[in-house]
Amino acid sequence: MVKNNTCVFISGSGTNLKNLISKTREYNFPIKIKLVISNNQNAKGLKFAKKNSIPLFVFNSKNRLFENQLLNLLNKHKIKLICLAGFMKILSKNFLSKFKGKIINIHPSLLPKFKGLNTYSRILKGGETITGCTVHYVNEKLDAGKIIIKKSFNISVSDCEKSLKNKTQKLEYRAYPEAIIKIYKNI
Ligand code: GRF
Repeated sequence: MVKNNTCVFISGSGTNLKNLISKTREYNFPIKIKLVISNNQNAKGLKFAKKNSIPLFVFNSKNRLFENQLLNLLNKHKIKLICLAGFMKILSKNFLSKFKGKIINIHPSLLPKFKGLNTYSRILKGGETITGCTVHYVNEKLDAGKIIIKKSFNISVSDCEKSLKNKTQKLEYRAYPEAIIKIYKNI
């Protein structure tokens, strides 16, 4: 089966990257991870790229030209899809326009609710009874692109930030691969 060249952008622990890497071993999974990019040289998730011999690139966002560097690399590796997975840097309009409709992100809430950071504490304070995760296309507005998939679960009275995070991430490991399959089914 034809596998679409994909780059995963991370800034932190990279557990979604790890999960996607393991999904790519399945014959019918429609992507192959050809490149991992991070703005953080200490990102724990970089170890998953190393372990799996996936080329990785760490950029310094203080360098004004970093997006040009990234675009060159993405072209060199013939990247067709960019998956943001815990990537904490905002990409410019210019960058987004070069990969229009080809950048997706996973967010730990049921969008459009709770866009942005500190999601779990805001969900708890908001008295929500249900939460989950969302995979969506990335556009210029924060966490506001077209939704591809959402998965939800009921919040229990004993939930705290840590347990919400655990439950949400478990769902993310199902949602991100399913969203990718859905994208390529619809093409
Ligand atoms: C995920 O929970 C995702 O929803 C959010 O950042 C977290 C990244 O986790 N955008 P990891 O780096 O994949 O472990």
